[in-house]
Amino acid sequence: MEKIETDYLVIGGGIAGLFFALEVSQFGPVSVLLKNTFNSSSSWYAQGGISCVSSSEDTFESHLSDTLKAGDGLCNPQVVKSFVEEAPMRIKDLIRYGVPFTKDENGNYDLGLEAGHSHRRIFHVKDHTGMAIIEALKKEVKKRSQIRIWENQLAVDLIVSKNNCFGAYVYDKEKKCIKAFLSPHTLLSTGGCGAIYLHTTNPNSATGDGIAMAYRAGAILKNMEMIQFHPTCFAQFTAQKFLISEAVRGEGAKIINPKGEHFLKAFDPRAELAPRDIVSRAIFMEMKKNNYPYVYLDIRGRERKWLEERFPYIFSYCLSQGIDMSKDLVPVAPAAHYQCGGVATDPWGKTSIPGLWAAGEVACTGFHGANRLASNSLLEAIIVAGRAAKLSAKENRNFSLDKIELSERVLLEENRAMDADIREVMDKIRKIMWDYVGIVRCVSDLGKAKKEIELLLEFLKNHQKEGTLSLLNLEAQNMALTAAIIIESALQRKESRGAHWVVDYPKKLDFPVDTQVSFVPREN
Ligand code: SIN
Repeated sequence: MEKIETDYLVIGGGIAGLFFALEVSQFGPVSVLLKNTFNSSSSWYAQGGISCVSSSEDTFESHLSDTLKAGDGLCNPQVVKSFVEEAPMRIKDLIRYGVPFTKDENGNYDLGLEAGHSHRRIFHVKDHTGMAIIEALKKEVKKRSQIRIWENQLAVDLIVSKNNCFGAYVYDKEKKCIKAFLSPHTLLSTGGCGAIYLHTTNPNSATGDGIAMAYRAGAILKNMEMIQFHPTCFAQFTAQKFLISEAVRGEGAKIINPKGEHFLKAFDPRAELAPRDIVSRAIFMEMKKNNYPYVYLDIRGRERKWLEERFPYIFSYCLSQGIDMSKDLVPVAPAAHYQCGGVATDPWGKTSIPGLWAAGEVACTGFHGANRLASNSLLEAIIVAGRAAKLSAKENRNFSLDKIELSERVLLEENRAMDADIREVMDKIRKIMWDYVGIVRCVSDLGKAKKEIELLLEFLKNHQKEGTLSLLNLEAQNMALTAAIIIESALQRKESRGAHWVVDYPKKLDFPVDTQVSFVPREN
C-alpha cells in the first residue's frame, strides 16, 4: 500500500478544512482530501452568510442570547460567548483572504437579517456566500506550496492505534487503490449527513462519512438526534434540490398555505422570523393536516430588479422553473438541512481521540445546542478550524509514523450487478429516515426505524467479502451507520427539545443533558 506522510491531514475541503489548511501551512506540509471536487462540499451551497456583531445597535449579548434561545437550552453558554466575541476577528481574516462581502450604496457592509436574530448581523455575498468564500480560500490555498489538494479521494477509515489517530486509509477514486495518509494531526471536516434523508438541501455526497469513520474509530458523538430541517426548500423534490435562503424571509417574504392563509402566527408570534425548528414544524403540521404537498413563500411585494440584485442565484433558479419571484408564489417545504450534533469536541476542535480534530458540521462543540441559529454554522467552522490550527501546531506529537502497523485493505471495483441492490438500500435508508426519524417523531416509529436500519446494515455487510468492500457499499454503510446513531440518540432523549420533537415526550426536561453514543473498537 502506498504511504504518504504529511504534517497535517485534512479530510474535507469545505470552509473548515480550507481555513485550517491555510492557518497550519506556515508550520508544515498539509494534505487536503476532497471527496469529489471543490464545488461539492455543503459549504459551497451555503447561501445565507456568516453572523457577526458589527453594527452600533447590535451587541455580543444579543447574539449570545439569540443563539441560546434558538439552541433551546442545550448550548454551552461559555462556548457561545467566546465564539460570538471572536467572530469579528475571523470575519477580518476572511476579508484579508479576499472574500467580497456585499456592501451597500454607502460602502458599508450590507448586513442581512435571518430568523431568530434580533438584529441585522449577517455578512453575505449576495445569496451565494459559501461559494464566494470557497473561491477566495481556494485562490489563497493555490498560492501556498505547503498545501497539496487531492481531489476524488474518499477517506475510508481513520488509522487509530492505542486510542491515537495517525491519519486515514483513503480510496483514490482515479487510481482505484487504497493509500495510507500518515499524519500526527488529522482534521475531520467532512460536513454532515443530510443525504441520508429523502428530502434534503444537502449535496448527494453528504452521506455521514465523517460520523461513521469517527464512530468506528471509537470517538464520542453527541446530540446526533438534533437534525435540523430547513423550512423552505424549493418543493420540486426530484433529483436536484434547491434551498430558498432564510434571508428571503429576512427581507419580508411571508409563508402562506394554498388557501392564501398566513398560518404561522398561530404557532409562534415571531411567525416567519421564529427559529428554524419552530417554522419547519409549523409548516410540516400544516401540510400534514391538510394534505398539502407544499406551502408557498410570497415575496411578490419586492420589485424584480431588487430581487435580481439581492438574490441573483435564487431568482434565476426560480425563473428556470418558470417562477418569477416578483410575480409568482414559490412552492416550498421543509427538508433535512444541518446536523447540529456530531463528533464531540472541546472549543478548540479536540476530539476524544488524541491526534484527531474536528471542525464544521461534523463536529459538536456545544455552540448550536438543540437547534442551530441561522448563519452560525460558517462562523463556527472558521472559529474552530482557526483554533484547532493554532493548538495543533503547538502540540508535540513527534513519534515515528513508520512504526504504525497498517492493515492491508483492498477495495473492490464497482460491481454493477451488486450496485443496483446497494442503490436500492440507499433509497430505503432515505425513506426510513424521512418517514420515521423526521420533523415529528414517535417512539414506536423510532423502534421500527432501528430494526429496519439494522437489517439493511446486515444486508450490506453480507454483500462484502472478507477484507473487501465496494465504494458504493462503503458509502451505503456510512449512511446506515449514521442513521443508526441518529436513531440511538433519538431514543435516548426522553423529551422534546429544539430539532428533536417526539410526541411521546412533548415536554422539556428541567435539566437537559447531551445524548452520547460511542463504540469501543478492538485494538489492531
Ligand atoms: C439559508 O440561507 O437559509 C441557510 C443558512 C444557514 O443554514 O444558516
